[in-house]
Amino acid sequence: MKIPKVIGHRGACGYAPENTLESIKAAADIGCTWVELDVKLTKDSVAVIFHDDELDRCTNGHGPMAEMLYRDVQSLEAGSWYAESFAGIKIPTLEEAIDLILELDLGLNLEIKPCAGREVETAEVALDVLSRVWDDPEKLIISSFQHVSLETCLDMAPDWKRGLLMDEPLKNWPELAKYLEAFSINFDGNLPAFNREMVEAFTDAGYATLAYTINDPIRAKTLYSWGVDGVFSDTPDVIEGISKTRH
Ligand code: G3P
Ligand code: MG
Repeated sequence: MKIPKVIGHRGACGYAPENTLESIKAAADIGCTWVELDVKLTKDSVAVIFHDDELDRCTNGHGPMAEMLYRDVQSLEAGSWYAESFAGIKIPTLEEAIDLILELDLGLNLEIKPCAGREVETAEVALDVLSRVWDDPEKLIISSFQHVSLETCLDMAPDWKRGLLMDEPLKNWPELAKYLEAFSINFDGNLPAFNREMVEAFTDAGYATLAYTINDPIRAKTLYSWGVDGVFSDTPDVIEGISKTRH
């Protein structure tokens, strides 16, 4: 796999409302070859691209996504919280996002972001959608903080690469990563606990390394110097190296 040096975070959420089709387009426009998106389920188990458990921050809706039917999610407005110029845009389904990603010829790090208690189901539904349309395993990483979701991915689609997400160093990461047959360790690249020594341990154990969320080019340079393969960025074009990732 040709790991991208820079992956657009939630699309390119420094330039458009996160996790929307507009954000994916913004990432492609500035030269990204890969994007990261979060996927979770509506009450009636439709896979949608959305980060938070609650609707409030990024839409004109209220309360938990897990309690909303898709037909109600569809009627929400997901752009004006960010800027008036984006007023009227919608929360995309996973299927709609993938259609656009394929059209733009991008790679995808899909983060399974389940609401509590739906770790298995969210992975199942997302993989079901993916398996119908995605055919290049070299341009897909499925990641999650939820080990059960990754375990479901291993069972259902062992050939698709898995990224083990960590927001703090887990003592048992070697066992976990091995058990989940992880391809990459995706870690918080701003947390001092993920230092050079840890990155080298990940690399020495044979894992690719991806760091989130890196918007400072100097931090990116430091991480690259430790051997980090790629960074997720809200503003991917300010991170040096993006032009090298273009086809
Ligand atoms: O996948 C990397 C990163 O997106 C994980 O954190 O909260 O931005 O989804 P978060
Ligand atoms: Mg994410």
